[in-house]
Amino acid sequence: MAGSRAIAVKVSDVHREFQIGDISIKALRGINMSVYEGEFVVVLGPSGSGKTTLLNQIGGIDSPTDGEVKVRNEDITEWSGGKLSEYRRNKVGWIFQFFNLIPSLRAWENVALALEFKGDRKDIKSVACEMLDAVGLGDKIDRFPSQLSGGEQQRVAIARALVKNPEIIVADEPTGNLDFITGQKIADLMKKLNEKFGGTFIVVSHDLSITEKADRVFHLQDGQIVSVDETPSVGNFKKVQEN
Ligand SMILES: Nc1ncnc2c1ncn2[C@@H]1O[C@H](COP(=O)(O)OP(=O)(O)OP(=O)(O)O)[C@@H](O)[C@H]1O
Ligand SMILES: [Mg+2]
Repeated sequence: MAGSRAIAVKVSDVHREFQIGDISIKALRGINMSVYEGEFVVVLGPSGSGKTTLLNQIGGIDSPTDGEVKVRNEDITEWSGGKLSEYRRNKVGWIFQFFNLIPSLRAWENVALALEFKGDRKDIKSVACEMLDAVGLGDKIDRFPSQLSGGEQQRVAIARALVKNPEIIVADEPTGNLDFITGQKIADLMKKLNEKFGGTFIVVSHDLSITEKADRVFHLQDGQIVSVDETPSVGNFKKVQEN
């Protein structure tokens, strides 16, 4: 179909059950969702509905009890060991609620570390600084995390996630620890970077500043997707026929 978009992530009938002693907890109960290349989607749902568990399946840090997660048409649930850690390290950019920066490293070193892990050796300082510039921190590259505000620390974390040019960016409550105005600025930045670099964003968030920027919002309840909002204002993205 002309103009149709490729699928970046396809989650098919994913279940995740945790066992604590005799008790089994069904965190995900048959999730089906497809995210298109370059799309910005939000996953919304009450506490305990399975949002983080779902991101963990997509980011390759946990694997489903049943079902399939395909990233660019490859089933990551079949991977283990080196292939899976290579995927986590090189293909997925994570953004967390509490930033998770390394306190003893300067802003640029935190970003450069992601490149080093990926195996890049050349020009890593200048590449890291360029990305810090793109998130508006070009003048603070030498600061340690403790010398930055929460919003600035999250900008460093966003630069770290994006610098390796990942296939997907997953963010778990990225504005959850920020005040409203700072959260709005981070939401604007993420959307701007999504447009500029074309990465696929899957964001867990209750924050309206973020949800209103989403191409689609998936509503999760009790481990199931109960509805999907397509945001007409974002418009003109065509639904791919999934057979
Ligand atoms: N490792 C685990 N062992 C046992 N149960 C777990 C584990 N991880 C998550 N759960 C359970 O699975 C369910 C979904 O948890 P999850 O962390 O995905 O929720 P969430 O939607 O991210 O919630 P929140 O908004 O509070 O972060 C919850 O009932 C939780 O207690
Ligand atoms: Mg969570």
